[in-house]
Amino acid sequence: SSFHVLVTGCSSGIGLAVASRLAKDELRRFKVVATMRDLEKRGPLEKVAGDSINKTLEIKQLDACCEASIRECVNSLPDRRVDVLVNNAGVGMIGPLECQNMSDMKELFDTNFFGLVRLVKEVLPDMKRRQSGHVVVMSSVMGIQGLLFNDVYSASKFAVEGFCESLAVQAMKFNIKTTLVEPGPVVSEFERKVYEDATKMDLSGTDEETARIFREIYLPYSKKVFASLGQTSEEVAEVNNSSSDHPRTPPLRHQTNRLYMPMTTLKHADPTGRLPLDTFYKMIFKHDGVMNYIGLYRRQDVTCRLQRRLQIYDNS
Ligand SMILES: NC(=O)c1ccc[n+]([C@@H]2O[C@H](COP(=O)([O-])OP(=O)(O)OC[C@H]3O[C@@H](n4cnc5c(N)ncnc54)[C@H](OP(=O)(O)O)[C@@H]3O)[C@@H](O)[C@H]2O)c1
Repeated sequence: SSFHVLVTGCSSGIGLAVASRLAKDELRRFKVVATMRDLEKRGPLEKVAGDSINKTLEIKQLDACCEASIRECVNSLPDRRVDVLVNNAGVGMIGPLECQNMSDMKELFDTNFFGLVRLVKEVLPDMKRRQSGHVVVMSSVMGIQGLLFNDVYSASKFAVEGFCESLAVQAMKFNIKTTLVEPGPVVSEFERKVYEDATKMDLSGTDEETARIFREIYLPYSKKVFASLGQTSEEVAEVNNSSSDHPRTPPLRHQTNRLYMPMTTLKHADPTGRLPLDTFYKMIFKHDGVMNYIGLYRRQDVTCRLQRRLQIYDNS
């Protein structure tokens, strides 16, 4: 029998790619419920999913910010069965903090963090009862390492990480798996939307120096990162798919982009936090050659050596 998968945020990007990838599985192992908050946006998914519509893929309405819509969607499924929840719906936000308003920040948390909480609350009791299930959550490398001008977004992904890490232990007792997928930059609507907002942003709320850093240093830097390290949604979906290929042993954390690993490794290499702080500072303000891959891997070498040294130190 097939796995029943519910995916949130399927109108575009990673959610769309994950849903259609699973629906087109050659072995037909998955029955996909692809959800979106606005069914008027179903066109792009229908186009990609093609023949699988109403066979291995069904489109339903679900707003991650509305408990009633989540319940209605899950209630409409036979036996309310969700074997795999892919919590993907999310929004981004960049810019100087002084130019962002509290209500937008709360809205972001309501989607990225409380959206996950609502979904898990709805499906976890059934998973526990069945003693099986897999919660897959679209986090980000920014759930491991914060980045300037992404303060609130990064905080929401840290919240997601802390929530899942805590819940995973209890879930394990009921044979429920938890996986945090941590993509680096992904070229999708997400990128387009945050840059569009950034360009329109009223920067008069902050000082000139901060506005200049954001406009002249951060934005070009960030665009370069997307252009050089960016993955496609399909690449992320592929990795995602392979983790549900082995439902017995999915990892708790899954970074999809090897090129980004040197940057996330810094954090684990230095518990004082100085190493990642200095590295990101130099990378952004001193235009250090970190964005060139050779530089990245040299740095990873250094990190590994440092890690080894710290372990030796710890053991003594
Ligand atoms: N792109 C990246 O660089 C990147 C990197 C790491 C992690 N991620 C994460 O990956 C996930 C997907 O992002 P993406 O890159 O695929 O971006 P995307 O193309 O903008 O897709 C985001 C999806 O979430 C949906 N959504 C937003 N609020 C929702 C709500 N309240 N209820 C239901 N759906 C909602 C959007 O629907 P609408 O069309 O209705 O707005 C859209 O379908 C997000 O959690 C994001 O944080 C992205």
